[in-house]
Amino acid sequence: MTAADPVLSELREYRARQGGLRIEALFAADPGRASDFTTSADGVVLDWSKTLIDAPARDLLLRLAEPVAARRQAMFSGQRINETEGRAVLHVALRNLDRDFTVDGASVMGPVRETHARMRRFAEHVRSGGIRGQGGPITDVVNIGIGGSDLGPAMAARALSHWHDGPRVHFVSNVDGADIADVLKGLDPETTLVIVASKTFTTIETMTNAATARDWMAARVEVPAAQFVALSSAQDKTAEWGIAADRVFGFDDWVGGRYSVWGPIGLSLMIAIGPEMFARFLAGGAAMDDHFLTAPDARNLPVLLALVGIWHHQVCGYATRAVLPYDNRLARLPAYLQQLEMESNGKRVAMDGSDLALPSGPVVWGEPGTNGQHAFYQLIHQGTAVVPCEFIVAARGAEPGLDHHHLLLVANCLAQSEALMRGRSLDVARAMMRDAGLTGAEAERQARHRVFPGNRPSTTLLVEQLTPFALGQIVALYEHRVFVEGVILGINSFDQWGVELGKELALQVAPLLEGREAGGHDPSTLNLARVVRELRG
Ligand code: F6P
Repeated sequence: MTAADPVLSELREYRARQGGLRIEALFAADPGRASDFTTSADGVVLDWSKTLIDAPARDLLLRLAEPVAARRQAMFSGQRINETEGRAVLHVALRNLDRDFTVDGASVMGPVRETHARMRRFAEHVRSGGIRGQGGPITDVVNIGIGGSDLGPAMAARALSHWHDGPRVHFVSNVDGADIADVLKGLDPETTLVIVASKTFTTIETMTNAATARDWMAARVEVPAAQFVALSSAQDKTAEWGIAADRVFGFDDWVGGRYSVWGPIGLSLMIAIGPEMFARFLAGGAAMDDHFLTAPDARNLPVLLALVGIWHHQVCGYATRAVLPYDNRLARLPAYLQQLEMESNGKRVAMDGSDLALPSGPVVWGEPGTNGQHAFYQLIHQGTAVVPCEFIVAARGAEPGLDHHHLLLVANCLAQSEALMRGRSLDVARAMMRDAGLTGAEAERQARHRVFPGNRPSTTLLVEQLTPFALGQIVALYEHRVFVEGVILGINSFDQWGVELGKELALQVAPLLEGREAGGHDPSTLNLARVVRELRG
């Protein structure tokens, strides 16, 4: 799609003609709107009625999705749609173990199934005590990785903590020594298993943390390598690092880092919740794949969620979107989605290398409700920028004795989307001030602060309960949503060249901080490095 795309132009003109139309007016005009603009698949319910998308806008948006079918077919059939890296995109193979996927005409499923079976055996042995540390059964697992090699398992392990019955799992990602120091200080090296998760096995943060963990282990454990595992595509490098081949769980280059939680990168999660629950997580993802492949666009959750995103970002011009899980266990979901969405669709050139004539994907941010309500919701309700909100909530909590908490949680979630849409008029605010005994200019001044413009759009994603299956559905839904948005924008959602420059420069700046090699840096960086050197003494 280009800025001159006729359908996009029509959509923008249509939005302009809507002018100050209120979402509530759409409900008043169409008694069936709440159900017509609610779409479900296998227990995942998406309410997208609290937006300004009406039937004509929806029909135009669906035309934007026309290129998706061919591209989706290309992805699922193993074509090299990641064109700048010359790679297929087949993370779906990791969660559909009973199906066949091919690249260049050859099935990829043999090694995928074999590795999955090895993971299962390994996880079971760790959980049962069959695989032990020098000091006895494994009590703690430390996953060292960053980006996609951290966020997926860290997010999912937290999300599924209700099902956690294996050893404790911990995640170290930041090169800041404080991260690993804080994790290791509570652990016994003799009963700890360290998982080094890195697709490339070159990422400086991960390799630095892994070396520190090895030193920590070596101080107490005679054979540290026996308590290390590697998850990586680079088996030559894992061998060089001293990890035995039977402790390496590999995956292919057609699994992008941020799409990798379904395979070996999910090992820490599998150890935490067990292979059976992990299988249910995969089954949820596979169910969403089936839905994505077979449902017509007008009832296809990933397509519709993407079109809502395109409407808000490309048509309405809203620069950010907030992901607001009303589920404390989904606390890491916004961070996970930041990588998934912004590393995938934060691109400034189209697939063919031409300048992207449209804004790239939006800024994604968020925090669990209800905490966010007591922090940044002020801006969402009364700030000048409109922030489309994506609420996520489960009808039932996992703590039966605490159902009164859960009802309050859900009530808050529904109330927020209603408040965003309805707002509060100046007349109502004036009446409130009159009731409070204020009159004249002071009443008017106070009333204006209490006005909520309303008409602020949101979607609500609802599941019965946050089970492993439901989490799989939600994660796959967002993956495919990112894919659909990328197809519509005409970009490559599967490379990440934008992370490279900073990595390269960090390697050049490090010697500068030690007083070596000064050439090639700008005056501000040189000055900052000098001040750091002075402060470090
Ligand atoms: O931040 C860039 C990136 O390449 C991500 O795409 C990836 O998830 C992360 O680094 C970690 O990479 P690796 O798994 O190779 O250590």
